[in-house]
Amino acid sequence: MTVVTTNILEFDEPTLAQVTSWYKDHISPDLARLLRLTGFGALETRAEGSWVIDQTGRRYLDFSGGYGVFSLGHRHPAVVAAVKDQLDKVAMSSRVFMNPLQAQLAAKLAEISPEGLQYSFISNSGTEAIEAALKMARLATGREKFVSTEGSYHGKTMGSLSVSGRAKYQDPFRPLLSGCETVKFNDIQALEDALTEEVAGFLLEPVQGEGGIHVATPEYLQTARRLCTERGILFIVDEVQSGLCRTGKWFAVDHAGVAPDIMTLAKSLGGGVMPIGATISNAKAAQAYKGRPLLHTSTFGGNPLASRAALASLQVMENESLARQAELSGEILKRGLTELAKEFPDLVREIRGLGLMLGMEFHEDKFGGSLIFEMVKRNVIAVYTLNQPKVIRFEPPLNVEKGEIEQALKAVRESLGETRRRLGSNK
Ligand SMILES: Cc1ncc(COP(=O)(O)O)c(C=O)c1O
Repeated sequence: MTVVTTNILEFDEPTLAQVTSWYKDHISPDLARLLRLTGFGALETRAEGSWVIDQTGRRYLDFSGGYGVFSLGHRHPAVVAAVKDQLDKVAMSSRVFMNPLQAQLAAKLAEISPEGLQYSFISNSGTEAIEAALKMARLATGREKFVSTEGSYHGKTMGSLSVSGRAKYQDPFRPLLSGCETVKFNDIQALEDALTEEVAGFLLEPVQGEGGIHVATPEYLQTARRLCTERGILFIVDEVQSGLCRTGKWFAVDHAGVAPDIMTLAKSLGGGVMPIGATISNAKAAQAYKGRPLLHTSTFGGNPLASRAALASLQVMENESLARQAELSGEILKRGLTELAKEFPDLVREIRGLGLMLGMEFHEDKFGGSLIFEMVKRNVIAVYTLNQPKVIRFEPPLNVEKGEIEQALKAVRESLGETRRRLGSNK
């Protein structure tokens, strides 16, 4: 192969005006307008640790954490080094020979996952991890139906969308998968009624992320486990956002001592450096593919670069005790937010969550919108939950420093003060 040298690394970074016009002409004019509004015209050009840096060099403290992607912060040096090293060995898989990194990753996932979860299907995103779980549940049970919870979010491909609990994203695409039903979150009686012997799988986020940071009670999780076992249903736990140390344990289900039949991961699995998803199943679920291992596949799933990033990320999570850090920093942040909720009861209804997956619920949507706006002015990024605009979520890196938490709390306090002054409520 002739290698042509080019000056590919010597390119001028495009200006805000150029990027905006490319968005308008080649991505979506509506998205260009939206991002101009919500993103304050900032271009993300650099990122490190808990910080995102724009084209002017302005630094923003990232308390949205990419919706759970940046548990290790941005560009953790160990993950970056692992991926750079891998680039010099093999980048994408031939898919003809065995892929040792994918195999090692699957073994590591089995080691840390709840009891019995042994087999991994590696993909590239959260929604793909869910699609694999849905197909596996149908095949393993020979049944068609799925039950999930109101307000849930499992992704936007057709299958995942069918089991997500928000009509706004579903209605334009009907008909979706048939036989999908939602039940009220944390309602045991509703579960008893809905989990009939026609159901293939029950899908649950143990902490609903986009639904507004709702934590499933241990009793709910344990009942779900029991009912699924009794009625031959596969219990599918979606830990795409809550998994991998974010709630103070490896997985949110670990708080209740519950082992599902299938568990999905993505987001932080790639350490904020590579995209990757995983569907981890027990022997009962995995027997669906017995004798037909190629029935569900993915070209890029488990590629060496992403697998290497995931292995490095899991190692960092262990070495830096990120579960423990999430628990400790979560307590500090939750305490600070709870004090602010008491100071601003006219704006804030409740603080809730587990570890560093926290939500602030407002009395009205407009207060949340104002808070995000005011916080960005103060160089801190926070975001809505997708299915519940009254709730602002805080999902900073798990290795966030104490000083950064204090800085974020100061920004929240000032932003609440400004929101009260501008939108003042009499509640
Ligand atoms: C719990 C949960 N499941 C699935 C997904 C879909 O993941 P992705 O956007 O990578 O497809 C998300 C994304 O926010 C999520 O929070």
